[in-house]
Amino acid sequence: MTFFKKVSGLLKGKTSDLYDWHDNWHEKFIVHLAKIVRPAVYVELGLYRCSLFNAMIPHAGMLYGVDINPDAGKFMKKSSKSTFYPMKTIEFAEKVRGKSILIDMLFIDADHSKKSVLEDFHAFFPFVTPHGLILIHDTHPRNQEFLKSDCCHDGYQAIEELASRTSDYELVTIPVHPGLTLIRKRTTQLSWQE
Ligand SMILES: C[S@@+](CC[C@H](N)C(=O)[O-])C[C@H]1O[C@@H](n2cnc3c(N)ncnc32)[C@H](O)[C@@H]1O
Repeated sequence: MTFFKKVSGLLKGKTSDLYDWHDNWHEKFIVHLAKIVRPAVYVELGLYRCSLFNAMIPHAGMLYGVDINPDAGKFMKKSSKSTFYPMKTIEFAEKVRGKSILIDMLFIDADHSKKSVLEDFHAFFPFVTPHGLILIHDTHPRNQEFLKSDCCHDGYQAIEELASRTSDYELVTIPVHPGLTLIRKRTTQLSWQE
């Protein structure tokens, strides 16, 4: 397929190599964000093949990755900075409760149901440092087709709920399929006044 055909397929919303890449735009976006923010602690909930996680290693101090599937750990690059936790996200939250973990950047990308996204958000919010960032994936699916439970599911509804009460965080969604929501934990605008 010529480059022109690929691009015109992209513009018409047809499947193509470029289009597939476009659906994964969150990886480059989040890595770029990490280059700017330089999180001391990065936590990723849901790793799949650690594609994003591994790309984050040079840009974070310590990295913790959680996946219910123990095979996900096989894809994690060996690094003294990273640790894999083969368990449910909620089990990991229990594990770190009472420990002095402070998360600078949290990526919620495990179970995409509304219920689980809200559970992950509320379970990990206390561990996020003031002015830390929480990113939630798959929050703006392209159409009805992508609301299936094996795609983006109904996680976008969690954002509807979170957006209705934002006294201790601010929130924006990038409305490009599959969608990425950025949340900053804060009670004052200026981090140095909090
Ligand atoms: C969309 S993939 C993650 C992709 C990865 N964050 C990336 O950007 O490359 C979702 C992963 O979440 C895991 N998962 C689903 N439900 C989970 C749960 N309740 N606890 C932990 N991991 C879960 C799945 O095994 C799967 O590997």
